[in-house]
Amino acid sequence: MNLKDAFSCFTTGVTVVTTHAQGQNWGMTCNSFNTVSLEPPLVLWSVRKASFSHEAFVSAGHYCVHVLAADQQDLALRFATGTQNERFQGLEVQSSSLGAPHLPGVLAWFTCRTQQVVSAGDHDILIGEVVDFGGKPGYGLAYAQRTFGVLAAMDS
Ligand SMILES: Cc1cc2nc3c(=O)[nH]c(=O)nc-3n(C[C@H](O)[C@H](O)[C@H](O)COP(=O)(O)O)c2cc1C
Repeated sequence: MNLKDAFSCFTTGVTVVTTHAQGQNWGMTCNSFNTVSLEPPLVLWSVRKASFSHEAFVSAGHYCVHVLAADQQDLALRFATGTQNERFQGLEVQSSSLGAPHLPGVLAWFTCRTQQVVSAGDHDILIGEVVDFGGKPGYGLAYAQRTFGVLAAMDS
């Protein structure tokens, strides 16, 4: 097992992070999202420096994290490949309070103002302050070992 395989054993949720920069919408699937602090409300995620949208996410100064629901595997795949135009094609998005596109049907969302960008190897960690959020009841999409799933409660 190589390091990437070992890292992939850690089960995560799945998010799509969006922003608006350089006159267009940007979005990418991300499982490095994590909560950091309640007071003040802070979250983080990391963006690969070599990705096309890296510059847009770092320069925008804001982003919106969408926690995908269990039935949104199609969105996870859509926002991991193709051009930005293809990713947003046919989706009904609304503008979040800071201007990032807001995706429909998600389990939870967090609109964030970027507070700090920390360079860490081949990724930048974007720490953001949550300025607005929302959500609905339901199950989230899970991801481990390059496979999507849903977390089910164990029999007690
Ligand atoms: C489940 C999943 C999670 C991902 N998590 C991240 C992540 O946390 N950070 C990241 O930079 N890329 C992540 N990726 C890869 C990006 O989604 C993909 O490389 C990106 O959409 C490339 O777009 P771009 O080069 O056009 O910016 C993930 C992909 C998948 C399928």
